[in-house]
Amino acid sequence: MKKRIAIFASGSGSNAQKIMEHFKHSDVAEVVLLLSNNSDAYVLQRADNFEVPTHVFDRHSFYHTDEVLNILSNLQVDLIVLAGFLWLVPQNLLQKFPNQIINIHPALLPKYGGKGMYGDKVHQAILAAKEKESGITIHFINEKFDEGEVIHQARFKIDPEDTLDIIKFKGQQLEHQHYPRIIESIVKKLPDK
Ligand code: GAR
Repeated sequence: MKKRIAIFASGSGSNAQKIMEHFKHSDVAEVVLLLSNNSDAYVLQRADNFEVPTHVFDRHSFYHTDEVLNILSNLQVDLIVLAGFLWLVPQNLLQKFPNQIINIHPALLPKYGGKGMYGDKVHQAILAAKEKESGITIHFINEKFDEGEVIHQARFKIDPEDTLDIIKFKGQQLEHQHYPRIIESIVKKLPDK
């Protein structure tokens, strides 16, 4: 039986794209749903292109109802993948999916993580600190921002002349290269239902 993945994303969705590409013809897993808190997110278009169903929810339903939980349960989702999703995951989902929710962060956690640290803000802070290297972190999530157990990190070198866009590009390349592969290794270890 193929494992069933749900992706949560709030924005452009270049990581979601790579994940959907990776599992499109996979025998290991399939992406069964893409969820977003942002009805204007470009990632919804990307999901349509892969004929992956989508669901948009709002803050109230996410934090004060079991709507999202019930959808994921009914679809028998095995793994939740956050790919540029910027809200904390509520307790009802954390309890239902222990060690089955993962995130990607554009820095070497625990550096440059925490509330408000996402997207360009992370890269600006890295530039301002004149770091000589940075990287990406794939980690399990818990009830705090960017604090769950680290699954995998990958690094890149920062040259003195690197601009924000270059650092961003280097990080994004690493994310695209590693996230689908790490997701596959995690789903392979999940028990059969
Ligand atoms: C990615 O760089 C991801 O690491 C980051 O959002 C970006 C989403 O890009 N996530 C965080 O900062 C979480 N704290 P994408 O929409 O092109 O995949």
